[in-house]
Amino acid sequence: MKHSMFQWLLILCMTVVLAVSQAAATRIDIPRLSPTRGVILEQPEILKTWSCEECQTFYYNQTLDHFNYRPESYTKFQQRYVMNFQYWGGPNAPILAYLGAESSIDSELAVVGFVNDTAPQLKALQVFIEHRYYGKSIPFGSIEEVMKNASTRGYFSSAQAIADYAQILLHIKKKLHAQHSPVIVTGGSYGGMLASWFRLKYPHITIGALASSAPILYFDNITLTPPGGYYSVVTKDFKEASETCYQTIRNSWSVIQHHDLDNLSQKFKTCKPLTSASELKYYLMSLYTSVAQYNHPPVYPVTVICDGIDGAANSSSGNEDDILLDKIFAGVVAYKVNETCYVNPPRNRTENGWRWQRCSEMVMPIGIGNDTMFPPSPFNLSSFENACKSIYGVPPRPHWITSYYGGHDIKFILQRFGSNIIFSNGLRDPYSSGGVLESISTSIVAVTTKNGSHCLDLHSALATDPPWLVEQRATEVKIIQQWLANYFADLRALIKH
Ligand SMILES: *[C@@H]1O[C@H](CO)[C@@H](O)[C@H](O)[C@H]1NC(C)=O
Ligand SMILES: *[C@@H]1O[C@H](CO)[C@@H](O)[C@H](O)[C@H]1NC(C)=O
Ligand SMILES: *[C@@H]1O[C@H](CO)[C@@H](O)[C@H](O)[C@H]1NC(C)=O
Ligand SMILES: *[C@@H]1O[C@H](CO)[C@@H](O)[C@H](O)[C@H]1NC(C)=O
Ligand SMILES: *[C@@H]1O[C@H](CO)[C@@H](O)[C@H](O)[C@H]1NC(C)=O
Ligand SMILES: *[C@@H]1O[C@H](CO)[C@@H](O)[C@H](O)[C@H]1NC(C)=O
Ligand SMILES: *[C@@H]1O[C@H](CO)[C@@H](O)[C@H](O)[C@H]1NC(C)=O
Ligand SMILES: *[C@@H]1O[C@H](CO)[C@@H](O)[C@H](O)[C@H]1NC(C)=O
Ligand SMILES: *[C@@H]1O[C@H](CO)[C@@H](O)[C@H](O)[C@H]1NC(C)=O
Ligand SMILES: *[C@@H]1O[C@H](CO)[C@@H](O)[C@H](O)[C@H]1NC(C)=O
Ligand SMILES: *[C@@H]1O[C@H](CO)[C@@H](O)[C@H](O)[C@H]1NC(C)=O
Repeated sequence: MKHSMFQWLLILCMTVVLAVSQAAATRIDIPRLSPTRGVILEQPEILKTWSCEECQTFYYNQTLDHFNYRPESYTKFQQRYVMNFQYWGGPNAPILAYLGAESSIDSELAVVGFVNDTAPQLKALQVFIEHRYYGKSIPFGSIEEVMKNASTRGYFSSAQAIADYAQILLHIKKKLHAQHSPVIVTGGSYGGMLASWFRLKYPHITIGALASSAPILYFDNITLTPPGGYYSVVTKDFKEASETCYQTIRNSWSVIQHHDLDNLSQKFKTCKPLTSASELKYYLMSLYTSVAQYNHPPVYPVTVICDGIDGAANSSSGNEDDILLDKIFAGVVAYKVNETCYVNPPRNRTENGWRWQRCSEMVMPIGIGNDTMFPPSPFNLSSFENACKSIYGVPPRPHWITSYYGGHDIKFILQRFGSNIIFSNGLRDPYSSGGVLESISTSIVAVTTKNGSHCLDLHSALATDPPWLVEQRATEVKIIQQWLANYFADLRALIKH
């Protein structure tokens, strides 16, 4: 039971799900953080068609363990990074470094156009660094092998990752004789958290960070938002798009739960017969959360789904439940056009390191409160811990992120310590409920957009971008330019003496 449940949940693959098979089965369903996924879901061809002739790929002999002096700590692995010199003003000109998140750097290069779009104005060297254990930067061979072995998994942590970034940035500056080049770091989602933490931990390497959609307050009960914060925002997004759509979805769960499985399979044109109503429910939940997270212009997928739901014909023959289910299915089809079948397509199980990261450090207590359009499902730390322990043999450390990077009383702490961080958030992004939404000081600033989605500002500028998005990016660039101006003024003063 547990096994098969894991299998199909992993088949959903974009969602990190931990299932515990108990009498009262608890499910912990956390939509994955990712700066790129929304674009890739809708335009999978982008990964094949995207190219960059100016980009050069390098590999750095990275140290396996930065925090230990045992012989095996000195093991090296090849860490990939990409540089684009096209707009660089040469030694002393800025370096704009994108800190990779939980995926291959290829996908991030294809989607994170902000760096290339901004580089000309700053005369910046573009650097994209891949996160250890993703893409081609995997110590000990394949990710499957690595994740099976408790010893090799142990070097997979955010602290090691930002130490990697520090090493590579220092290496680049040395190699290019660019010791005085100011480095700006940026990242989105988990990578945005890394960018903000990097600025706090390595102020001698970066002069400032743009942290896009970084839910650094979604740890250790920092925020007083109800544990359902994430799902409350998803609900708000649907309600704003259409009240009737919201109501239809809200009413659908009990109908699905009690409907005949064969009929459900037929209605939803599933690829394989459903084995439980939950299979369909999780699919729909994952779809709704994903489109809310990536509800970007000009598509606005929440609206696409709601138009599908609201626009479905009121078939006269069926009973109320049938009509409602037809509407839900029409919503699915409106978004997933032209698929031959739905809900449980054949997919190969792929290993992704994020599940380990969630189960070690990234313990975000995201549950479903009773104020959403979803069936309530509060976060249960002890069942989360048990689930992780049963997969990896070791329990998560839910307090480690706040011990190591802080987060509690962030305003009180950082207003007298930190500087030069932009926290950008789109308020339609469910993860914004764990973001820094108010400025902390004059140089640790929040930039929010009412209608923005997850990491939208980091995407390539498009002709269809609404004015508020154009303005958001311009604001961010202006702040970065001010950091640079201050840096160069300080540098000139230093050199004079
Ligand atoms: C970077 O921007 C330039 C100018 O806008 C464009 O010609 C080039 O194709 C872009 N490169 C990438 C890799 O997106
Ligand atoms: C990395 O290490 C390998 C093997 O030790 C060596 O051949 C290679 O030149 C090194 N690369 C760099 C960039 O130092
Ligand atoms: C796990 O990895 C370590 C370090 O590479 C290796 O020594 C050990 O043999 C591996 N264990 C298993 C069970 O493969
Ligand atoms: C957060 O608060 C809840 C309820 O008070 C508690 O059960 C849980 O252990 C706390 N989580 C952490 C990580 O401290
Ligand atoms: C299943 O659907 C068929 C027709 O589509 C209907 O006749 C039948 O009553 C349905 N069964 C249940 C249990 O809903
Ligand atoms: C379906 O019926 C509802 C309630 O009667 C109505 O508000 C809605 O406009 C109808 N939808 C269509 C597509 O006819
Ligand atoms: C879906 O299929 C129809 C008919 O085959 C085609 O005209 C349409 O362009 C397709 N839409 C998409 C988004 O692929
Ligand atoms: C799954 O992997 C097998 C073997 O690598 C391959 O033949 C098959 O096409 C894959 N299926 C899907 C749906 O990707
Ligand atoms: C929802 O949850 C809150 C806080 O846990 C509780 O006070 C309230 O009574 C609940 N409302 C409903 C309708 O269950
Ligand atoms: C949380 O899960 C544990 C089992 O891991 C269970 O004993 C406990 O009752 C659950 N707590 C709540 C509030 O559901
Ligand atoms: C946000 O979107 C809504 C429609 O969903 C629109 O009415 C509103 O004007 C937009 N707000 C801004 C600031 O663009």
